[in-house]
Amino acid sequence: MLVSVDQIFDELLNRESLFINKRVLSHDYIPEILPHREAEIQKLAYILASALKGGKPSNVFMYGKTGTGKTAVAKYVLKKLIERGERLGLHFKYAYVNCRYRKTNYRVLVKICEEIGCRGLPETGLPADVIFDKIVKYIDERDQLVVIILDELDWLVKTSGDDILYQLTRINNELNKAQVSIIGITNDIKFKNYLDGRVLSSLSEESIVFRPYNSEQLYDILKQRAEMAFREGVVTEGALRLAAAYAGREHGDARRAIDLLRVAGEIAEREGASKILEEHIVKAVDEVDKDIIGATVRDLPLQEQLVLLAITVLKALGEQQITTGKVKNTYEKICTYLGYSPLSLRRLNDILSDLETLGIILAPVTSLGRYGRTKLISLEVDLKSLVKIFLEDSLYAAALSEFVGEEAIQKIVKAK
Ligand SMILES: Nc1ncnc2c1ncn2[C@@H]1O[C@H](COP(=O)(O)OP(=O)(O)OP(=O)(O)O)[C@@H](O)[C@H]1O
Ligand SMILES: [Mg+2]
Repeated sequence: MLVSVDQIFDELLNRESLFINKRVLSHDYIPEILPHREAEIQKLAYILASALKGGKPSNVFMYGKTGTGKTAVAKYVLKKLIERGERLGLHFKYAYVNCRYRKTNYRVLVKICEEIGCRGLPETGLPADVIFDKIVKYIDERDQLVVIILDELDWLVKTSGDDILYQLTRINNELNKAQVSIIGITNDIKFKNYLDGRVLSSLSEESIVFRPYNSEQLYDILKQRAEMAFREGVVTEGALRLAAAYAGREHGDARRAIDLLRVAGEIAEREGASKILEEHIVKAVDEVDKDIIGATVRDLPLQEQLVLLAITVLKALGEQQITTGKVKNTYEKICTYLGYSPLSLRRLNDILSDLETLGIILAPVTSLGRYGRTKLISLEVDLKSLVKIFLEDSLYAAALSEFVGEEAIQKIVKAK
């Protein structure tokens, strides 16, 4: 007998969800306890604690790979500091700015204003200097300490240079009563190279390095979240261990571990299963990886996307040795086809380095004997996922079809 639509609805409505609180698996949720970050939390707390006695905390530079808890630790400690300050009758505030979404000096300053409650700025039109002065005046009239967290700071510096950082690290010279401390955060190993020596030294009066988690540590983090997120007994021990192992395999990324758990829960629920098993984690891996790569690729500037598209084309054509020269050639053809002007070889090399830093490609320099030296480029991400991401954009889809051919593309997309 066929199942009626009503029966499907009834079944779904009567079925208890596996989740009791899905929100604790979202990216911005910060738990009350952060396992395996005791040392980093302590260090930051010690640095900031001097503010409770009227001192100016040092500026702090926090570095570590993606998903190692930098943002979580910074927000966690700051929240506690503000709470303690309030109890002591102190006027502490913090401004959180994620520079990935605010890559210009102007937008960073406007965000700081919003965060500290300095309102009444026109939408556009004010020069950055004027906003800077407003911030100084506003802070000095009201607060004792403002901590400015500049998260994913590399995005700002790569786009707009380090002028604003220079100004912000000097802001205390212009303040009479209040103090400002800066916490700069990045996951880019090469970040320090982009900074002027003076800016670097005032930004990193103190620094905290976040080491990647190993699988056991990820297991503890996952177990804590699983207990809050799912009904009792839903998550099997095997599934937790496997998710921790997957996430620990590359560089101990807690975000990826938590994503795996959430997506596995969604898959299990769709399948009508009553428990999350290892097989659900395995199915979640593909989905999560595609999402992670997708977000990275969509965030890339246009020219970087075009270079990555050229590498994808070469790979899809089965090219064995992908050299800088071949990438340049294909990249230029794609530019012409899509109507963009190609960049010089030097800029292309910069872009290859950026893509390598982001973990999308590997590009070691190799000697070709008497033909000189070249970068030999390989993809660090799955070709199929990458092709699918480019196909979502109609222009890139057209270029793929032009340079690789519809049939070959379909073969890659449908491959197991
Ligand atoms: N020790 C921990 N205990 C519990 N949850 C954690 C821990 N470390 C990280 N997380 C969680 O993992 C996710 C990623 O952490 P976070 O955002 O702090 O990483 P990050 O180091 O800032 O990474 P990125 O460089 O990509 O910004 C968050 O959801 C966070 O709550
Ligand atoms: Mg972060």
